[in-house]
Amino acid sequence: MHVEKISFEVIKKFWSEHLWPGRQSPIEPVSCVNSSGTIDLTVRSYHPFFWGAFADSQLLGVVSFSQTSPSEARMRGICVHPDHRGQGVSRRLFDEGRKDAVGIPSLQRLWTMGRLINIDYYGKLGFMRGIEVNAYEFGPHNIMFLDLKKES
Ligand SMILES: CC(C)(COP(=O)(O)OP(=O)(O)OC[C@H]1O[C@@H](n2cnc3c(N)ncnc32)[C@H](O)[C@@H]1OP(=O)(O)O)[C@@H](O)C(=O)NCCC(=O)NCCS
Repeated sequence: MHVEKISFEVIKKFWSEHLWPGRQSPIEPVSCVNSSGTIDLTVRSYHPFFWGAFADSQLLGVVSFSQTSPSEARMRGICVHPDHRGQGVSRRLFDEGRKDAVGIPSLQRLWTMGRLINIDYYGKLGFMRGIEVNAYEFGPHNIMFLDLKKES
């Protein structure tokens, strides 16, 4: 398995097939929700990164990382193909994105908006429960946080 950056077109197709089938709102490269769970258009001024995990040329899973403020970045849309779950694919994606984030000097923490069903999963990656939100498609979520450990 290897992990590399992919385009928005590639991640969008994977998301629409495996993460958000039947989604009503358009899938945008950057969501404008901030880490308080409210709409904040300044989030869109940051450039998102999209990662894919591959076995040969087969796309197994995807994730996006994007800054949402000088000190925070959001991990969004982590998703693994149903045939390849439970094999460490998402952990590889997460590790790659986090490594990149640690390299941004001003970044202090990552956050994600997890479906309640996935709280334990995000806990395994090191995220701590934060703010409950229930304002968006796909039901209630929890905004969860992970402090980035920096090399000094
Ligand atoms: C959640 C999801 C991304 C996990 O991907 P995965 O590749 O199967 O996860 P991994 O094999 O890398 O597992 C990483 C760790 O999480 C744990 N884990 C995986 N799925 C879990 C779950 N549903 N509940 C709790 N822990 C879970 C694993 O045991 C592993 O822990 P460990 O490293 O301590 O042993 C995948 O199941 C998925 O795509 N689900 C549908 C999409 C989705 O819900 N995405 C999140 C939207 S909020």
